[in-house]
Amino acid sequence: MPTTVRVECTINDETREFLCEPRQSLLECLRDVLGLTGTKEGCNDGNCGSCTVMMDGRIVPSCLVLGVESQGSEITTIEGVARGSELHPLQTAFLESAALQCGICTPGFIVAAKALLDRNPRPDEHEIRLWLANNLCRCTGYDKIIRAVQQAAATLQEAK
Ligand code: FES
Ligand code: FES
Repeated sequence: MPTTVRVECTINDETREFLCEPRQSLLECLRDVLGLTGTKEGCNDGNCGSCTVMMDGRIVPSCLVLGVESQGSEITTIEGVARGSELHPLQTAFLESAALQCGICTPGFIVAAKALLDRNPRPDEHEIRLWLANNLCRCTGYDKIIRAVQQAAATLQEAK
């Protein structure tokens, strides 16, 4: 009988408590324990970026973080990017630019791109490509994704 550990953290601005096994990744906890299935599993070994979430202000691959390591931390997943029914400009731009096909990589790209735009509202193309270098897409091709991030950055600037 595996031992379970009680973990308390903040996810998408809500205090959450859950039980997990010490071996379970944060990705497993989010998806299988908490039902936050927006975060996707690609490689499960830290190479694809599909499972990207924000943890205490840093982007992390949740497949390489243990659930127990999230104790006391603040996490943002793709479910926390929209505000209610209002999509984040990145989400709108990905849809309008057809910057996704199967969608497995998309939550990771959007969480990572949001972290970039929060730090640097006017990134140039090189900065966007460099920032997103750890996020892989097997379907869409990167140009549409880069254009979507540029479009979202412009939208956010116009809204200021
Ligand atoms: S599933 Fe975590 S990096 Fe690929
Ligand atoms: S849309 Fe399929 S992997 Fe990116």
